[in-house]
Amino acid sequence: MKKDSIALIGFMGTGKTTIGKALIKQLGNDYKFIETDEIIVKESGKSIPKIFEEEGEQKFREYEISACIKASKLKKTIISCGGGVVLNNINIDNLKKNCIIVLLKATPEEIYKRVMKDGKETRPILNKKDPKKEIEKVLGLRNPFYEAAAEIIIDTTNKEIDDIVIEIVINSHIKS
Ligand code: S3P
Repeated sequence: MKKDSIALIGFMGTGKTTIGKALIKQLGNDYKFIETDEIIVKESGKSIPKIFEEEGEQKFREYEISACIKASKLKKTIISCGGGVVLNNINIDNLKKNCIIVLLKATPEEIYKRVMKDGKETRPILNKKDPKKEIEKVLGLRNPFYEAAAEIIIDTTNKEIDDIVIEIVINSHIKS
């Protein structure tokens, strides 16, 4: 059967949520938007930073696996995936069942600017003394996983949201 959902993957601050919501506007009301983080917060009853603080990253990744299973069963849904979903192959295998996997990329400088706007304490992975250095390090480690998982790669640097949305709609053939 033809895939009718899109999973947006990519590092923190690459615009998954912004682009996901803009995609819904373009695709119409029969499409829904969901974030894997939102599923985790609902399931655990805690914020993401609280989960990291009280239960640790490994437990967070377990919540994330179950969130991806849930999300992968949704039809006509744009899923904004947490930046770390690529760390467990099972997540990509599950998402690929009904999702086209779209990777959003941005430069480390752009990511730094965007993440600092929200505050580094909202992203436990980057809540370090030198978040800029941490972005470069973690991004370098994760890039091969992002590239391997992606079916479509979109560089968001210096592009308008509307243009990115059109690029995704055309390349994913989601509407045809
Ligand atoms: C994480 C990214 C976050 C969130 C958690 C861990 C990561 O999601 O899932 O803080 O490991 O990259 P966003 O990419 O939506 O910020």
